[in-house]
Amino acid sequence: MSSKVTLPGSTIGILGGGQLGRMLTIVAKRMGYRVVSWVGGPDNGPAGLADLIIEDAFDRAEGLARFLDEADVATVEFENIPKPLLETIAAKMPLHPGAEAITIGQHREREKDFLSSNEIPCANYAVVDSVETLKTALAGLPDRGGILKTAEFGYDGKGQLPVTREDDADRIWAEFDAPRAVLEEKIDLAAELSVLVVRGQNGETVTYDPAENIHRDHILDVSIVPARLDRSILDEAEAIALRVAEALNYVGILAVEFFVSGDGRLLVNEMAPRPHNSGHHTIDACETSQFEQQLRAVCGLPLGSPTPMRPVVMLNLLGDVWVDSEGSPDWPSILAMPGTTLHLYGKAEARRGRKMGHLNLTAETIEEAIALQNRSRELLKIPPLK
Ligand SMILES: Nc1ncnc2c1ncn2[C@@H]1O[C@H](COP(=O)(O)OP(=O)(O)O)[C@@H](O)[C@H]1O
Ligand SMILES: [Mg+2]
Repeated sequence: MSSKVTLPGSTIGILGGGQLGRMLTIVAKRMGYRVVSWVGGPDNGPAGLADLIIEDAFDRAEGLARFLDEADVATVEFENIPKPLLETIAAKMPLHPGAEAITIGQHREREKDFLSSNEIPCANYAVVDSVETLKTALAGLPDRGGILKTAEFGYDGKGQLPVTREDDADRIWAEFDAPRAVLEEKIDLAAELSVLVVRGQNGETVTYDPAENIHRDHILDVSIVPARLDRSILDEAEAIALRVAEALNYVGILAVEFFVSGDGRLLVNEMAPRPHNSGHHTIDACETSQFEQQLRAVCGLPLGSPTPMRPVVMLNLLGDVWVDSEGSPDWPSILAMPGTTLHLYGKAEARRGRKMGHLNLTAETIEEAIALQNRSRELLKIPPLK
């Protein structure tokens, strides 16, 4: 791994073209960097703030040549970048996180194998690549059943199917239509948490206070910080997340998602080798945002302070808000509420379930922040918090 300081004035190369890269770009521009975004396809808005956008597919030599020519240092805002491409880039310039960590995070089987071989607690699972292996795995499920998940390219609950012991393996495997999957036991969830860890090139680490995450239809709905759980559980989650970062010899920002089971166990669900939706509150509620930390780590600069400044709720704004308000959400009423900041990602088309932006709602207490969040839902016609 090459290690060096990349100073303002240099060019950050971002692989991926979504909102995470856009928010990193905003910070990079503020701090005097240039940005080249290789988005791998037609840009639909989020990457539009970069100095240069490369739309070539990730297997195009022209795209690679331009990226290598322009960028001084590279990072990802999206984990599904082919490993050979990551390795080619890493041979020419610093890439943080490294190809190995990114490719573990892009594949559920590799991720689970990594966790279990490092004795990090996760849900019981079996690898499935045929009707036969599915049959055996189904037979081993507990009464609560399980969730079949594609090994690759799943997000926001896509590529997932709840199953039980009684299900017909032939039918499910034909319908599921993926070459490889993991079957995971269903956890009786008391809560979900995530921890962001930042690790610098010199091994320095910081962790953010865990976020309590509530999902709706498998998509993150809100993140609540501080989480309303016992401090002992939160401390344990931070300690496990740090172990994950150390075991990966990670550089950059890493998100570790956890399940808290009904019987009080903490299990790692998955990890993301990039900034995370459950870290968007850090932009307005912490001394340093997750995007600035990514930039600092990638550039070999000192890490910033993750200290929380105010209790906060992050409320995701899905395309449903636009669809249900016939195109004109009531932003003036939202922005009239003190403690509210609006983040929109510049996406042209609003579709149900598509992440279009988020609100950060800060207050003196977490109860007041939750109340502000409830008021925002009413104004935007979002169904009440679960
Ligand atoms: N084994 C499980 N037991 C209970 N709930 C689960 C399980 N796996 C996933 N879920 C629910 O589905 C959500 C999305 O699943 P996840 O594996 O994180 O995939 P992704 O975020 O990539 O869509 C989780 O946050 C959780 O709410
Ligand atoms: Mg997830």
